[in-house]
Amino acid sequence: MCGIVGYVGQGKCKKYVIDGLKRLEYRGYDSAGFVCIDQKHKQFNFFKKVGHVQELEKALHDLELKSSIGIGHSRWATHGIVNELNTHPHFNCDKSIAVVHNGIVESYEEIRKKLIESRHEFESSTDTEVVAHLLESLIKTHKTLKAAIVDLVRQLKGAYALVFLFEQYPDQLLLIRKRSPLLIGVGDDEMFIASDVLAFCDQTNKVIFMPEESFAIVKKDQIELFDFEGKALIIKPQEIDFKHDQVDKQGFEHYMLKEIYEQKRSIDRSISFCKFIGSNNFNNLTHISDNFLTQEAKIQYQDSIWSQLGITSEKIKELKYIYLIAAGTSWHACRIAQFFFENICKIPTYVYLASEFGYMPFFPEENSLAIFVTQSGETADTLEALRVVNSCNVFTVAITNVPSSSIVREANGFLPMQAGPEISVASTKAFSTQVSVLFWLANRVALEKKLIDIEVMKAAEEDLLLAAEVLEISIESYKWEIKQTLAKKYSKYNRFIFLGRHISYPFALEAALKLKEISYIFAQCYPAGELKHGPIALIDKETPVILFSSLNDLIYQKLVANAQEVKARNGHLVTFVFEGQQELIELSDYSFIVSRVNPFLGPLAMTGLMQFFIYQITKELDRPIDRPRNLAKSVTVE
Ligand code: G6P
Repeated sequence: MCGIVGYVGQGKCKKYVIDGLKRLEYRGYDSAGFVCIDQKHKQFNFFKKVGHVQELEKALHDLELKSSIGIGHSRWATHGIVNELNTHPHFNCDKSIAVVHNGIVESYEEIRKKLIESRHEFESSTDTEVVAHLLESLIKTHKTLKAAIVDLVRQLKGAYALVFLFEQYPDQLLLIRKRSPLLIGVGDDEMFIASDVLAFCDQTNKVIFMPEESFAIVKKDQIELFDFEGKALIIKPQEIDFKHDQVDKQGFEHYMLKEIYEQKRSIDRSISFCKFIGSNNFNNLTHISDNFLTQEAKIQYQDSIWSQLGITSEKIKELKYIYLIAAGTSWHACRIAQFFFENICKIPTYVYLASEFGYMPFFPEENSLAIFVTQSGETADTLEALRVVNSCNVFTVAITNVPSSSIVREANGFLPMQAGPEISVASTKAFSTQVSVLFWLANRVALEKKLIDIEVMKAAEEDLLLAAEVLEISIESYKWEIKQTLAKKYSKYNRFIFLGRHISYPFALEAALKLKEISYIFAQCYPAGELKHGPIALIDKETPVILFSSLNDLIYQKLVANAQEVKARNGHLVTFVFEGQQELIELSDYSFIVSRVNPFLGPLAMTGLMQFFIYQITKELDRPIDRPRNLAKSVTVE
C-alpha cells in the first residue's frame, strides 16, 4: 500500500525511481507519480498517471531527463478518488516544494481550513497536499528550514513517511518519519530512499532505518538526522543480506503459485531456525540460507529462544495468559494457534483483531504475553494495537517475516519467520509458516513449563515436517484433476458457503478469504454447528458448500451430521477430508483426501491443496491473481 522511492546522486534518478516503483508494485496501488529537478533548467519536472507504473514509464520514456535528484510514489487512495490530481507528488502554491507521502495526516482538515483562510489554494482532495502548503507557510515565518520542520511535525497528527524536494535546495531531499517506515540506502556518492528495502536492495546493502519520529536532510554524500525536537542523532548504517533475485517468479506464471510451492521449504527453514536459535554460531541471526538446512541438527533447546524473544525462562514458566493479535490472514493463523496454546500449554489464550483492539476494553493481566503476528510487520492496525499493549506493561513479542520492519523495532522481542519474501498480495506461505512457528512455540513453551518432555518436543517437530510434506504432496495428487476439470467446473458458481468446526473453522475462514480476495467470488464462512441457526436457508444446488474436516473424532462425527444436513436439502457438497473418513467421503459430491497428520496440524496439511484449488479457479476467471483489485499487500493505514 503506497510506495515511496527517492534518489540523490549521479544522474540515474529516472531509472532508479521507476525501477524502484515497479519493485514496490506488489504492495498494491492505483496511480503513480514522479518529480525530479531537471539539471538543465533547474526546475521541477513532474508526471502523474492513473493505473500501472508502466503508464508512468511510458510517459517518461522519450524524455531526455538528466536529473540527479527526484522522488516517485505509488498511491493507494485514502483521501480523494483515484485520479491524476490526487496522485502524488503534491505541491505548495508556487510549485517550489514537492512532497510524496505514505500514511494519513489526521489533522489535515483543520490545517487546510487555516491555510485556505490565509489564501492557500488546493488542487487535490488529499491530506498530503496540505503538508506542502503548511511547510511553505512555516518556512516564511521561521528563520531556518530546521525550525520550520520542527514546527511542521508538531502540527501533523497521524502517521507519515514524507519525502520533500525543494527547487530552492536542488541537492537535498527532506525525509520525515512517524509511524510509517522510511529507509535510506547509502551508496557511493549517491543515496537511495524507499519505504521498502526491496526498492534498492541490489544497489547497496548499507541501510539506515529512520528511527521513529525523526527527520533527515539527505544529500548525495551526507545525511543529517534529527529527532522531532531538532536534536541531532547519530545512527550508523546496518548491513542487510537481501537480494532482489529472491523475488523472481522463477518460471512460475504467478508469484502466488510459486509461493504455494515454496511452503514446505519455508516451514522446514523456519523450524530449523527456531531449533537453532542461540547456538553459538547463530547468535543474533535474523535470516538463514538454505545451506543452513544441510547442517547436522544438534537439538539443544537452549534458553536462547527466550533471549531471542527478549523474555526470561522464569517469565515463560509463570505465564498465565496469552494474547494473540493480528489482521487478515495472520489473524486466521492466530485463531488456529489458539488451539495450540490452550491445549498444549494449557494457557488461556485470547485472539484479537488488530483493527478492533483499540476500541475495546483491554484488561491486561499479570504474567501475560502478547504476541503480534504479521507477515509484513507494517500493518498499521497491528502496530497501533502493539502501542496500546506496550503502554499497559504487558510483554510484547512480534512474529514477522520481515526482520527490518517497524514492528520489530517497537515490540519488546521478536521471532523472525523464514518464509522468504512474499510478493503475491494473497498470503500463502506466510500463513502456513505462521501456523508452523506458532505450533513450535506452543510446544516450546510447554517444554519450558514441563508440561511435555524433550521427546514430545522432538516428535512435535517431526510432525510439523510431516505436515509440511503432506501439504506439498496433496497438491501433486490433485494437480491434474483440478487443472483439467475441477477448476473449470467450480469457477462457474457465483457464491460458496464454507464450513469448519473447532480448529478447522478458522481454516475455513482463511479459505473463504482466499477465494474472495483473488477470484472476487462471494463466499460466506460459518462454524458448521451454526448452519441450523440461519445459513441453512441458503443451501441450494447453486451454492456449493465447502467443508473442512477434522482429525478430532468427536468433531468429525459432528461434521458428518452437518454434511447430512446439507445433503438432506439437496446441497452440493465438496469436502476436504483425511484418509479413512469414509462417511464424509460418501456424503460428498467431491472429496479431496489428505493423509493423516498430528490432529493440530490438520489445517496445515490441507493448506496447499486449498490454496491451489482456489488459485486454479481464479485462473479460469482470468483475474489479476497477484494483484487483486482494491487490495494492498502491506496495509499501512488504519
Ligand atoms: C492485507 C493483506 C493480507 C494480510 C493482511 C495482514 O490485508 O492483503 O494478505 O493477511 O494485510 O497483513 P500482515 O502483514 O500484518 O500479516
